[in-house]
Amino acid sequence: MVKICCIGAGYVGGPAMAVLALKCPAIEVAVVDVSRSRIDAWNSDRLPVLEPGLDAVVRACRGRNLSFSADVDRHVADADIVFVSVNTPTKASGIGAGRAPDLAYWESAARVVASAAASSSRSRSGTKKSTVVVEKSAVPVRTAEAMERILVAHGGEERAFEVVSNPEFFSEGTAVRDLLCPDRVLIGGRDTDAGRSAVRAVRDVYAHWVPEDRILSTTSLWSAELSKVAANAFLAQRVSSVNAISALCEATGADVSDVARAVGGDGRVGDGFLSAGVGFGGPSLQRDVLCLAYACERSGVAEAAEYWRQVVAVNEYQKSRFVRRVVSSMFGTVAGKKVAVLGLAFKKGVGDTRGSPAVDVCRGLLGDGARVTVYDPMVSEKQARKGVAARVQVARDAYEAAQGAHGLCVLTEWDEFRALDYRRVFDGMQRPAFVFDGRNVVDAGKLREMGFVVYAVGKPLDDWLSKGTRN
Ligand SMILES: NC(=O)c1ccc[n+]([C@@H]2O[C@H](COP(=O)([O-])OP(=O)(O)OC[C@H]3O[C@@H](n4cnc5c(N)ncnc54)[C@H](O)[C@@H]3O)[C@@H](O)[C@H]2O)c1
Repeated sequence: MVKICCIGAGYVGGPAMAVLALKCPAIEVAVVDVSRSRIDAWNSDRLPVLEPGLDAVVRACRGRNLSFSADVDRHVADADIVFVSVNTPTKASGIGAGRAPDLAYWESAARVVASAAASSSRSRSGTKKSTVVVEKSAVPVRTAEAMERILVAHGGEERAFEVVSNPEFFSEGTAVRDLLCPDRVLIGGRDTDAGRSAVRAVRDVYAHWVPEDRILSTTSLWSAELSKVAANAFLAQRVSSVNAISALCEATGADVSDVARAVGGDGRVGDGFLSAGVGFGGPSLQRDVLCLAYACERSGVAEAAEYWRQVVAVNEYQKSRFVRRVVSSMFGTVAGKKVAVLGLAFKKGVGDTRGSPAVDVCRGLLGDGARVTVYDPMVSEKQARKGVAARVQVARDAYEAAQGAHGLCVLTEWDEFRALDYRRVFDGMQRPAFVFDGRNVVDAGKLREMGFVVYAVGKPLDDWLSKGTRN
């Protein structure tokens, strides 16, 4: 029986291994983590990751061929294939702070693999045992080289290691669906006999449920590593492109939705990720763009680094432009005024506020003295205060948030914000009542008829806003 171990029971490791276990009943899968509380949560009825369908998948295989354990060394030593899915955040301090990925967790995992595997060198039959180590985390190009060096330094005569890159492309909120039916599975390895055999071993696992033509397994290690950050950078770049157009639309009276429809209608461009808004967010996009820019800089291609940095710069511009628009529309000051914020998650369908533009907008408004009350259907009060600031107020619903407010900002595209009774919202607000739609979800025409002053990203400006307010 093939044994798989995954180091890192996070957003990626947990769901990815649960689906693998579901689809491969003959493979024993252990997910390990240094965080005992995370492991306890995976073994409980309240999983640490909220994804539609995940509970059912875990229930179907936990205790059968899927286990969660804090005994990292034992499971790593036993495994034929070790996935490494630890966190790789942007460095907070030191060389490359704010730009380079922090590879400390990554290296600690490499050392765990090396020493645990070395302690169980010979297989039961006495032959030299080999372990395939799979990079699942998003890492800078050529990270596998460092991993190989650490492993070789520990491996000696007794143990063979082969490193393969298999980045994860699922989206938060649709993780289980994406894992069950991926549009592609990318596996990169060394062009040697051992490298090809390791890629084959990983490919055989996915072949249990993924059609062959979706498994891309002739890629080099470096291309596979680079593909993950490049894919996220392209997504971010599209959002920044349409947001840059949105600023010009507001200045000229064009409508960004019309422009995006016309541009995306060209089959060569495609229409995905072309919705203008308050900016991209989430745990990965910005980090991966910065990771790519840093790799360019370190590789001597400064112009390419600058190009990618501009994607992040436009995103920052879009968030601060939104805050300036709120303040300038409300007579140049929000000090002491209540501003309701609808939506804190970085996108609809998730309760994740990591990197959310809504968090930055709230901080900007608080910085200008506003009294901010937030409401998000999936973000708890504790999480909202932790993510934004202790002094933020948290409402139980959108109406409570808007009660007595001078302005209302829509910052996540939840469906329920489209369907609100805006007449009721209007009745509860101060006059003039402002709506700032950062996701283009409200019917601006209808709201104006009710008496709201409405700003919507990239749309022709309300008369009120075009008179004497610039951003
Ligand atoms: N979150 C996403 O939607 C997503 C999607 C695709 C790829 N990724 C990438 O996948 C990787 C993992 O992301 P995540 O969101 O699952 O991170 P996470 O922070 O949710 O989980 C990582 C886990 O690794 C554990 N860990 C760290 N070092 C360890 C060690 N030495 N031994 C054992 N456990 C260790 C941590 O305790 C943590 O529980 C990152 O590189 C991320 O960029 C994330």
